[in-house]
Amino acid sequence: MLNDIERTLYHEQTILRRLDELAAQITTDYTGRDLTVIAVLNGSLFFMADLLRRIQLPLRLDSLSVSSYHGGTQSTGLVTFDQTSLPDVEGRHVLILDDILDTGLTLNAIRDRLLAEASPASVRICVLLRKEKPRARELEADYVGFDIGDEFVVGYGLDFDERYRNLPFIGVLKPEVFSTSALPD
Ligand code: PRP
Repeated sequence: MLNDIERTLYHEQTILRRLDELAAQITTDYTGRDLTVIAVLNGSLFFMADLLRRIQLPLRLDSLSVSSYHGGTQSTGLVTFDQTSLPDVEGRHVLILDDILDTGLTLNAIRDRLLAEASPASVRICVLLRKEKPRARELEADYVGFDIGDEFVVGYGLDFDERYRNLPFIGVLKPEVFSTSALPD
């Protein structure tokens, strides 16, 4: 697996140090408010686990399973919700967690649906990575771990074709790995 990585972008300790800062900011901002976190699966699993354990608040945790990449390196543009119902967040302050903001389609679709159908008191967005690029739909993230270039990254929850999520760091995949269409099983 390590042979497929061109270079490391963020080591585990660098990520965790940044999560300390993000968690401290979120704790300050939501003190006195009833916080509900909605984690966008699967990519945010590791981010969620490490960030939430650093937040010093009695938050509620929900999740949504949404996908738009379906194995490739570019968004299909079609955001699919894997469940029909949304978490019950009526009147609650919602923080949506996702691993990466790329085209903006996923987080815009989730926020649109929550606002239209779930009557939250507020909705904010927290991403570990934000790609610096023009987006299909612009989106202001309220909390950002790291700004990165327009490269295909894997690890710490991020996948290519459902693999590499379990790398403990974030790295750039060698182009030849994703240019050869499918990985062998
Ligand atoms: C990825 C990633 C984000 C989204 C970001 O999810 O986890 O949720 O795409 O891309 P966007 O800003 O271009 O919409 P993916 O569809 O690959 O599902 P996954 O979380 O299961 O990996």
